[in-house]
Amino acid sequence: MIRLQDITKVYPMGKRELEVLRGVNLHVKKGEMVAIMGPSGSGKTTMLNLIGCLDIPSSGNYYLDEKEVSRLSRGELAEVRAQKIGFIFQTYNLLPQLSALANVELGMRYAGRLDTGQAREALNRVGLSERASHKPSELSGGEQQRVSIARALVKDPPLILADEPTGNLDSHTGEEIMSILTELHKEQNNTLVMITHEADIARHCQRIIHIKDGQVEWEEEL
Ligand SMILES: Nc1ncnc2c1ncn2[C@@H]1O[C@H](COP(=O)(O)OP(=O)(O)O)[C@@H](O)[C@H]1O
Ligand SMILES: [Mg+2]
Repeated sequence: MIRLQDITKVYPMGKRELEVLRGVNLHVKKGEMVAIMGPSGSGKTTMLNLIGCLDIPSSGNYYLDEKEVSRLSRGELAEVRAQKIGFIFQTYNLLPQLSALANVELGMRYAGRLDTGQAREALNRVGLSERASHKPSELSGGEQQRVSIARALVKDPPLILADEPTGNLDSHTGEEIMSILTELHKEQNNTLVMITHEADIARHCQRIIHIKDGQVEWEEEL
C-alpha cells in the first residue's frame, strides 16, 4: 500500500538547510494498522504529510498503491487525497460554523459524492447519531474527534492517516477513540497509519515504527 524509498525532506532555513527526513525507507502492507513513534521534532508529522500527499519529498520515491506519487503536481496530489485518503488530526480540524453532520458530509463533498444518508450512518457508527445537529463548540473533545473519524471514514478510503488523534484527550477518552478506530479498522479493512507519543495508544496497532532524527530507528511487531 505504502512504499517509501530513500525519502529525504529538506527545509530551507535562511542560508542553511534543515534536513528533517534523512533517507526513510518504509513499507506498509494493505490493511495494516501501524503506529509511528518518536521524540518531538524527529520528523513524524513531516513523514505523515508526505504519506498523505500533502507535501512532496526533496528526494526519493513514494509509491502509493503501486503508483509513484512523489512527483505529482499540486492538483494531482489533491485528487489522490480526495479519492484515497482520510485524515484525522490532533485538533480535530472541524469547521466551527457547521453541524456534526455537515462536517461529515464535507468528507464526501471533496471526493465528489455527497450522500446525507451515508453521512448519518457514519455518525451512527461512532455513536453520535443523537448529536448530528450539534456544532463542534457544543461537543466534548472526544465527541469532536469522533465526528472527525466519521468524516475520514465516510468515503471508505483505502488509507487513513491520524496525527496524534488522542493527543488532546484524557487517557480514558483516548482509549475510547482507539477502540472506535480499531473496531472500524477491523470492519473496513483499510490501512491505518497513526502517530502517537503514548506507548499505551501505540499498543492498539499491529506494528510500531520508531523514528529518530529523521530516520527509521527500529520497528517492532506486536
Ligand atoms: N514547513 C516547515 N519549514 C521549516 N521547518 C519545518 C517545517 N515543518 C517542520 N519543520 C521542522 O522539522 C522538524 C521536524 O518536525 P515535525 O515533522 O513536525 O516533527 P514531529 O512531528 O516528529 O514532532 C522540526 O525541527 C520542525 O521545526
Ligand atoms: Mg508532529
